[in-house]
Amino acid sequence: MENAIVLYPSPGIGHLISMVELGKLILTHHPRFSITVLLITTPPKRTNITPNSTTQQQATNSVAQYIAAVSATTPSINFHHLPQVSLPPDFNRSTPDTGFELPRYNNPNLHHALLTISKTSKLKAFLIDFFCDAAFEVAAEQLKIPTYYFFTSSASGLAVFLKIPTIDSNISIDIPNLPSIPFSSWPDPLVDRTTTVYKNFSKTATRMPNSHGIIVNTFEFLEKNALKAISDGVCVPEGTRTPPVFCIGPLISTTGNESGEEQNKCLNWLDKQPKQSVVFLCFGSMGLFPSKQLKEIAIALENSEQRFLWVVKNPPPDNQNSEKIDGIDDILPKGFLERTKDRGLVVRQWAPQVAVLSHNSVGGFVTHCGWNSVLESVSAGVPMLAWPLYAEQKMNRLFMVEDVKVALAVNESEDGFVSAAELERRVRELMDSEKGREVRDRVLGLRDSATAAMKDDGSSRAALNNLTEQWCQN
Ligand SMILES: *[C@@H]1O[C@H](CO)[C@@H](O)[C@H](O)[C@H]1NC(C)=O
Ligand SMILES: *[C@@H]1O[C@H](CO)[C@@H](O)[C@H](O)[C@H]1NC(C)=O
Ligand SMILES: *[C@@H]1O[C@H](CO)[C@@H](O)[C@H](O)[C@H]1NC(C)=O
Ligand SMILES: *[C@@H]1O[C@H](CO)[C@@H](O)[C@H](O)[C@H]1NC(C)=O
Ligand SMILES: *[C@@H]1O[C@H](CO)[C@@H](O)[C@H](O)[C@H]1NC(C)=O
Repeated sequence: MENAIVLYPSPGIGHLISMVELGKLILTHHPRFSITVLLITTPPKRTNITPNSTTQQQATNSVAQYIAAVSATTPSINFHHLPQVSLPPDFNRSTPDTGFELPRYNNPNLHHALLTISKTSKLKAFLIDFFCDAAFEVAAEQLKIPTYYFFTSSASGLAVFLKIPTIDSNISIDIPNLPSIPFSSWPDPLVDRTTTVYKNFSKTATRMPNSHGIIVNTFEFLEKNALKAISDGVCVPEGTRTPPVFCIGPLISTTGNESGEEQNKCLNWLDKQPKQSVVFLCFGSMGLFPSKQLKEIAIALENSEQRFLWVVKNPPPDNQNSEKIDGIDDILPKGFLERTKDRGLVVRQWAPQVAVLSHNSVGGFVTHCGWNSVLESVSAGVPMLAWPLYAEQKMNRLFMVEDVKVALAVNESEDGFVSAAELERRVRELMDSEKGREVRDRVLGLRDSATAAMKDDGSSRAALNNLTEQWCQN
């Protein structure tokens, strides 16, 4: 019988990609395991055409494209789509609890899928995204399958996550050796501890220590302080065991439309720019700005006198004020594209981020600090200007600015708005100042550490080997 490892990602593209990349990594170095990825089928929205449906459609398409691309290049990964579940009529798809609730409704399907797999293979380990916490009841508690959490954010984020059940202040979260996290930088779900989303996170954090281990997409050298706090046992409630933590990253996805039109457009343009001269702006799959903010960014870039590559997404539907947006000219200040055409490139919706960051013309990255983006920037040795938008991104910024020291921060107003003058100042600082040079030097060093971690004798490879040895004994 084959030794099977089953992966259970959360359906959001960022979470899904890093878990599938983990599957690829396992297969590359330990091909004796078979890898099955169970995919939750996201039910279509029941309401008629809502303004959000295009965004949702795009997200579904990019997940499907990504899976098709991986299936083509790594046919040994089995993708198994769980059947669509029917949700209760009052299920609200727009709450932050959806991430936890969809897996819960899928528990019967999951149970069936795991039993089916164990008829033909020895199920050595089950790896779940933290959002798929409900699966722990089925896999670990009922079926007694060794279950591991896969944490898609930083080890510093994990340190905070494990602390959630014992947070008793609303001033700061304090972990030895890490910067104190002021209330203003707390992850969204922790801000109001009376909400169901807080309770869902807290329940997950309470259960994690009972797992066989936690796998984190990071590397030891990047987050020494957080890892020490975790292994010292100061993050979990007193008397609770800390499960083993395996830092196997950075996992970076290069799967996608490698020879697509957009890709060529960006890379050809970068080829013509001087070394480290371009600031790249891209805000993730969900980072949408209202028109007012997009105009402000444009003014900042024009006044900064820097070269730039800017990925512009349409504003969220409720911010379009029913104005019809056909071209980018409808969003940006009049004449902006013409005036900056010699030193700037604006692309719509998407850019090949990993390829762009790795291009030696790129000298800075304005990012929302989603963890995948942070890892991609560090791995490419590009210093960041951190402009967090949602989830745990403000906390990621704090760690990257104050602990790891590879980023500068924009100073947004309380409602998240960043003025043109502020952005211009920070972009100049990143691209052309002593402070900018310091973070650049530091991130270049970390780039080499990231490469070293993934080599045969590196820390991340050792962690992967420990993990697979544990699986063989399971
Ligand atoms: C669904 O949840 C969102 C976000 O919490 C809320 O704004 C909205 O009013 C809810 N919709 C319904 C129908 O309850
Ligand atoms: C912090 O907690 C105190 C006491 O529970 C409460 O009165 C206060 O409103 C809270 N402040 C914030 C910002 O949540
Ligand atoms: C998680 O969220 C759901 C939906 O809001 C709620 O019904 C459930 O009680 C929450 N779970 C916990 C453990 O509070
Ligand atoms: C491929 O490129 C298109 C734009 O050219 C983009 O919309 C899509 O998300 C990309 N797909 C992947 C898997 O990156
Ligand atoms: C951020 O901006 C606010 C108001 O615009 C200002 O009071 C504050 O000093 C600024 N902070 C930094 C670190 O520049």
